[in-house]
Amino acid sequence: MACTRFIQLALWLGGTFIGVEAKNSQYVNVFMGTKNGGNRFPGVVAAPFAMAKLGPDVESGKTDAYSGYLPNGNIWGFSMMHESGTGGAPKYGVASQMPVIGPVSDPVANFSQARTSPDEGSVGYYKSSLANGVLVELAATEHAGLYSYTFPNGSSPSIVVDVSHVLPSFRGLGWEQHYSGGSFGIFDDGHYTGAGTYNNGWNLSPDWTIYFCGRFSQQPLYAYTFISTGNATVTNNGTSSVAGSGRLGGAFSFTSTSIKSRVGISFISTEQACTNLDAEVTEETELETLVDNAKARWDEDILDKVAVSSASESDLQLLYSSLYGMFLIPSNRTGENPGWNSVEPYYDDIFTLWDTHRCHTSLFHILQPIAYTEFLRSLIDIWRNDGFMPDARSSNFNGRVQGGSNADNVLADAFVKGVRGAINWEDGFAAMQTDAEVVPPNNFDPKAPDSSTKEGRGALPDWLQYGYITPRFTRAVSRAVEYSTNDFGLHQVAAGLGKTDEAATYLNRSRNWRNHWNPNATSEGHFGFMVPRNANGSFIPQDPKDCGGCYWGDAYYEDNAWIYSMNAIHDVAELKRRIGGDERFVDRLDKLFDLKIFNAGNEPGFTSPFLYNFVKGKQYKSVERSRYISSLYNASEIGLPGNSDAGAMESNILWQMIGLWPMTGQTTFLILAPWFESMTISLGDGKTLSFTTTGGNKDTAFYVQSLKVNGEPWDKAWVTWDDIFANGGTLEYVLGDQAVEWATGDVPPSPASEVPSS
Ligand SMILES: *[C@@H]1O[C@H](CO)[C@@H](O)[C@H](O)[C@H]1NC(C)=O
Ligand SMILES: *[C@@H]1O[C@H](CO)[C@@H](O)[C@H](O)[C@H]1NC(C)=O
Ligand SMILES: *[C@@H]1O[C@H](CO)[C@@H](O)[C@H](O)[C@H]1NC(C)=O
Ligand SMILES: *[C@@H]1O[C@H](CO)[C@@H](O)[C@H](O)[C@H]1NC(C)=O
Ligand SMILES: *[C@@H]1O[C@H](CO)[C@@H](O)[C@H](O)[C@H]1NC(C)=O
Ligand SMILES: *[C@@H]1O[C@H](CO)[C@@H](O)[C@H](O)[C@H]1NC(C)=O
Ligand SMILES: *[C@@H]1O[C@H](CO)[C@@H](O)[C@H](O)[C@H]1NC(C)=O
Ligand SMILES: *[C@@H]1O[C@H](CO)[C@@H](O)[C@H](O)[C@H]1NC(C)=O
Ligand SMILES: *[C@@H]1O[C@H](CO)[C@@H](O)[C@H](O)[C@H]1NC(C)=O
Repeated sequence: MACTRFIQLALWLGGTFIGVEAKNSQYVNVFMGTKNGGNRFPGVVAAPFAMAKLGPDVESGKTDAYSGYLPNGNIWGFSMMHESGTGGAPKYGVASQMPVIGPVSDPVANFSQARTSPDEGSVGYYKSSLANGVLVELAATEHAGLYSYTFPNGSSPSIVVDVSHVLPSFRGLGWEQHYSGGSFGIFDDGHYTGAGTYNNGWNLSPDWTIYFCGRFSQQPLYAYTFISTGNATVTNNGTSSVAGSGRLGGAFSFTSTSIKSRVGISFISTEQACTNLDAEVTEETELETLVDNAKARWDEDILDKVAVSSASESDLQLLYSSLYGMFLIPSNRTGENPGWNSVEPYYDDIFTLWDTHRCHTSLFHILQPIAYTEFLRSLIDIWRNDGFMPDARSSNFNGRVQGGSNADNVLADAFVKGVRGAINWEDGFAAMQTDAEVVPPNNFDPKAPDSSTKEGRGALPDWLQYGYITPRFTRAVSRAVEYSTNDFGLHQVAAGLGKTDEAATYLNRSRNWRNHWNPNATSEGHFGFMVPRNANGSFIPQDPKDCGGCYWGDAYYEDNAWIYSMNAIHDVAELKRRIGGDERFVDRLDKLFDLKIFNAGNEPGFTSPFLYNFVKGKQYKSVERSRYISSLYNASEIGLPGNSDAGAMESNILWQMIGLWPMTGQTTFLILAPWFESMTISLGDGKTLSFTTTGGNKDTAFYVQSLKVNGEPWDKAWVTWDDIFANGGTLEYVLGDQAVEWATGDVPPSPASEVPSS
């Protein structure tokens, strides 16, 4: 076991790869994207979507540790719950333990420890070497964790559990988490249970509670509970309990220098936390077994579903580390929903559909069709019980709507691709209609007090009254283009359900982005951009390259008019017409890159690089952009061009490797140029999608010369779901080093641009 770990580690230290069994988890660098703002979680996630995410919590000056981890700084606890690849401000970092040397006289002292060497990890395994000599190794299951502590010989080992432990934020946004109180009890046999209640964080949630149950491999020599109020700390020896709003918990001392601690968590009760623990990690469970189980789960569920040939070691690492990073959140909390009783699945830690609807959810669907159906059912069940589907959700609470109600796009994407199963699509459409017709109650977010940032479409009153959004609402322009794509989603589902009136209404509304189009707005030789608009219809002067603060209170969120003006991806033919035809359209796309307006690390621009496919012959330019984007990624700690955003960034590079781009909400996939000589993706039910490339390579000879789809010569720069995914399919590319205008057939559909037939 240790030997296997060493080999896996050697991969990341630049060591020679000595063959281990062909399981793709061996290629995963769990530290990919953990530095420079990638915010990925490197700790233990025992299976895709596991609720328990066990890892270190690091303090480093005033730096926010979004996933708990930071490469530098002191570890001040190892806790059971984290998110991965989020921003804003940290959530979770709860149900923690901290190993301490010597008897603990002051349980609320600062126990933080530097690390003597960088943390190490592989799928299912994590290790920290603390300056006090304690070696901490971690493994986990879906609802429980196993901590293996090796204390220095001759030391007096102690473990402190501090219920007030929660990840802090120093950004001053008002999004920091607070500890509200808890309870803690120690039992005769040395095990403990308790609960902690916390609030706020990036989604501004009210109080929520996590329950926990901990058991040690040895009866403690002695133990006590504590509660601290003001500067007085009260302790109670042995079997005892404490509760209240003070800082509280327990301290445990042992004789053995080798202590295993196992902890179960639950959102339901301490009893359920113990049940989860005892069902998943017993006294006999070895750390190595859990590590092996975790690798097997990831291999079977995700990593071994994608097979490639002739890939370089670094490409394999990027491929599998990206696949891994895509599925760390959301969390499958089925059976762990404290909010309501339901037979429906329950998924939380949705950060955020604004980030993921563009290309993550469509790949989630392809790689994890069963989990994806559960996820969609959960979105609809949240609407049933909480009133709205989330755009983002954490600790059982919707929050942080950046633009539109993008669950609409996600549901539409699934619907048009034939996802049915146990999904109640009448309810699904009703949930979408709630977004489209019901103004969500204002949560008076200090960052944008004009309308709800919790859920739904806060700027709906203007959208319904004017068909555009006036400056009385923040983020008016960027919300407007997203509301258009959201309404297009409603059109898609309504049409499929035979609701012809609604289908016509929402198709019409999906064109409302045009109402923000000022044909006279000019920038860099281009005319026509989406700009802010007054209630009387007049356009507000706007430099298309400037988005002001580009944040919650501004007209454009996180990107400018150049980017947002390209985002009506259901209406590209009309967009092209407004921009001035094919040549002007290509020139505008070129300028996004030549003028460095495009930012590969931010989601609003994700689809723009590939819109060249809407101009006959110009597909090769999309491939050039694909290769540029690809150059910004690798499997290292700094290998993501921005925040992972819950795997959105990873899904982007995976599509570049696959050589396709999903037009979310439609069945269209734009054709790029794949990286490998061959790839086969298992689609379930024995179906596969595979491609081959001949004559070229990923780095220097990547232009498509010709293509066959399912054996037939192909002259279009796009395929549909039915062509290659519904029943599987094959793509055979000939690549070369010269740009060729091979895609001269019909351009991809622009469903909203076509005039309705009646
Ligand atoms: C704890 O101690 C460490 C090391 O002295 C220090 O860097 C850190 O700021 C302290 N943390 C707190 C919360 O006081
Ligand atoms: C601690 O003691 C054990 C058993 O005697 C021994 O195998 C081990 O090498 C010692 N570790 C250290 C760090 O001295
Ligand atoms: C802490 O103790 C000091 C000294 O006894 C006292 O002056 C101070 O008021 C106490 N602070 C709190 C918050 O109780
Ligand atoms: C609690 O236990 C410690 C260690 O055995 C002992 O020193 C202390 O006196 C005890 N306190 C009480 C209140 O019994
Ligand atoms: C989600 O969790 C539930 C309850 O543990 C389980 O039955 C279901 O199979 C899980 N879904 C997936 C995709 O693993
Ligand atoms: C579409 O919108 C136009 C302009 O707002 C309106 O006149 C027309 O009635 C709408 N049609 C439908 C089917 O909603
Ligand atoms: C654009 O400018 C032209 C020429 O000044 C003017 O006639 C037209 O009304 C303007 N259009 C808009 C929408 O402002
Ligand atoms: C339209 O409204 C804006 C903002 O209230 C105002 O500045 C402008 O003068 C108005 N234009 C007309 C033509 O009424
Ligand atoms: C990974 O990408 C980063 C950012 O582009 C770059 O600085 C770094 O050198 C790359 N690392 C490797 C191993 O290629």
